[in-house]
Amino acid sequence: MTKMLIAYGTHEGHTRKIAQRLVGFLNSHDVAAEEIDTADLPEHLDLSVYDGFILAGSVHQGSHQRSLAHFIKAHQGILSHRPTLFLSVSLTAVHKDEEHQKEVLACIDRFLGETGWTPSESLPVEGALRYVEYDWFKRMVMKSIVKHQGGDIDTSRDYEYTNWEYLEKHVLDFVRHHFATEKASVQ
Ligand SMILES: Cc1cc2nc3c(=O)[nH]c(=O)nc-3n(C[C@H](O)[C@H](O)[C@H](O)COP(=O)(O)O)c2cc1C
Repeated sequence: MTKMLIAYGTHEGHTRKIAQRLVGFLNSHDVAAEEIDTADLPEHLDLSVYDGFILAGSVHQGSHQRSLAHFIKAHQGILSHRPTLFLSVSLTAVHKDEEHQKEVLACIDRFLGETGWTPSESLPVEGALRYVEYDWFKRMVMKSIVKHQGGDIDTSRDYEYTNWEYLEKHVLDFVRHHFATEKASVQ
């Protein structure tokens, strides 16, 4: 059975939710998957047991998590010899116009340039607004930025923009493409 590791970085927990959901999804499609938080790594981590990797991070003020960058740099050797998928979670990815998509790709390129890593594939993923969980200051800052962009500003609730169906299909296609002999199919 194909064994995948999902290593993620998160600030407010949405990328953790994505990682956990993908673990459940892959497990239900005969792919053994586990997730780890790059900011809270186990003491002994043997990456050689995994056939492929999904690395996921969210964008804050134009940058992905440092812990994710450290993880990538520390494991560059194995990551360059296994199929890898990079998921970049952001609010910019919610907007499908050319200008925003260019911005998303530039942010991904910047991160990959900084880490010196070339994943087999990269995918922008729509993030979430977690107004309820933000502290007062962050809630006001986010509301003001989002208001300026004409987005959702009811701070009494959260907004989740992730297209789960598209994401799960993409991830399964990735696994099937790289591990074609394994039984991993969309039911
Ligand atoms: C303080 C803050 C700064 C953010 N900066 C950006 C940004 O520069 N670009 C962007 O597209 N999204 C930005 N976002 C949106 C996050 O990428 C989005 O909320 C994502 O779902 C967060 O994922 P996480 O909960 O895993 O950290 C920001 C969010 C917060 C709270």
